Amino acid sequence: MFDLLVKGGTLPDGRVADIAIKGDRIAEVAPNIAAEAREVIEAAGDLVSPPFVDPHFHLDATLSYGLPRVNASGTLLEGISLWGELRDLTTVDEMVQRALHYCDWAASMGLLAIRSHVDTTPDHLNTVTAMLEVREKVRGYIDLQLVAFPQDGLYRAPNGRENLMRALDMGVEVVGGIPHFERTMQAGADSLRDLCEIAADRGLRVDIHCDETDDPQSRHIETLAYETQRLGLQGRVVGSHLTSMHSMDNYYVSKLLPLIAEAGIAAIPNPLINIMLQGRHDSFPKRRGLTRVKEMQAMGIPVGWGQDCVLDPWYSLGTADMLDVAFMGLHVAQMSHPDEMARCFTMVTRTNAQIIGLQDYGLHKGALASLVVLDASNPVEAVRLRPARLAVVSKGKVIARSARGDATLNLPGRPQTTHRRAPKR
Ligand code: FE2
Repeated sequence: MFDLLVKGGTLPDGRVADIAIKGDRIAEVAPNIAAEAREVIEAAGDLVSPPFVDPHFHLDATLSYGLPRVNASGTLLEGISLWGELRDLTTVDEMVQRALHYCDWAASMGLLAIRSHVDTTPDHLNTVTAMLEVREKVRGYIDLQLVAFPQDGLYRAPNGRENLMRALDMGVEVVGGIPHFERTMQAGADSLRDLCEIAADRGLRVDIHCDETDDPQSRHIETLAYETQRLGLQGRVVGSHLTSMHSMDNYYVSKLLPLIAEAGIAAIPNPLINIMLQGRHDSFPKRRGLTRVKEMQAMGIPVGWGQDCVLDPWYSLGTADMLDVAFMGLHVAQMSHPDEMARCFTMVTRTNAQIIGLQDYGLHKGALASLVVLDASNPVEAVRLRPARLAVVSKGKVIARSARGDATLNLPGRPQTTHRRAPKR
């Protein structure tokens, strides 16, 4: 007797299979499993995927849009300045409540693992206290990984380095940084050496807000690749954003990409936020603010999609749906070939999981029993529709259900209902 049986779903690779679950693990994946189960989800014709993963988010700032006021210029720098006010005005409890509200949305969308940067700038470290509490509160259904993020600069902010170390001592598990916000290029490079050494000493992973600027001279990714190589951190380092690469000279990029590949660095572009923030100083043509996604993938560099922000000082929209992120990324990176569209789905599931080092992820025997049933036939249709999550299972338990996206029609001579899936050909 199994605890849960997900029957007849289509897996992302196109196989049709039942998934049997016992406790918090997948016990079997095979066509037509005959055994009984306490609970059955009928998924024939629906896509069954491992859960969505967001490898780049700011949970301490989420759902604060308009506090203390809106970002009038729409720039990264005004966002940083507004957040600098808000983090001293808001309480730990308010941050916890906003983050938990966001996690409810995430759970309902099948987003079950999140890597969140946590601002370690202020001496009170209320942000860290709040996010450690949230990590515990959601542990039963969302895996929350925290990055110590010196938002105002490791060296530029008073006590920046000391507070980052305090956050790591409190239990934050990834080392973050923001070299392009330090006072000089040299200070940025020095911060990367320091941060990578801290990570190497403590056996931690690294995730850097790297070159989130339109300045083609912002080349901190080169230093990050060098330090990763020097300290043997291959496979444990992420370059987030990398938007300056959009504006760099092609000749220089032809040297840079092999260095990133050799260092085993993964890239996390955040297309929703950067299509909004970048290019604000351009007239026309305006740059897109996205790094070179397909070019990195062609070099074998792992590239995922991150969400970054929902309703906060940097981004005024957002839904906790990683398919929104994939949809925007697909457009801005012009990933229109069917293989590229399918890859965008993989990026917000398996690739993101691999990049942040999730254990026991996937739809195979022995994996953690977390999955999502989507009202779509295949991954490309899922990206097109961003459809209802019919059922979300986390660690063996059904934690959310949604209705299908059918509409009732009242049109002479036409069917009474319409469904957004494409007709079969
Ligand atoms: Fe970010």
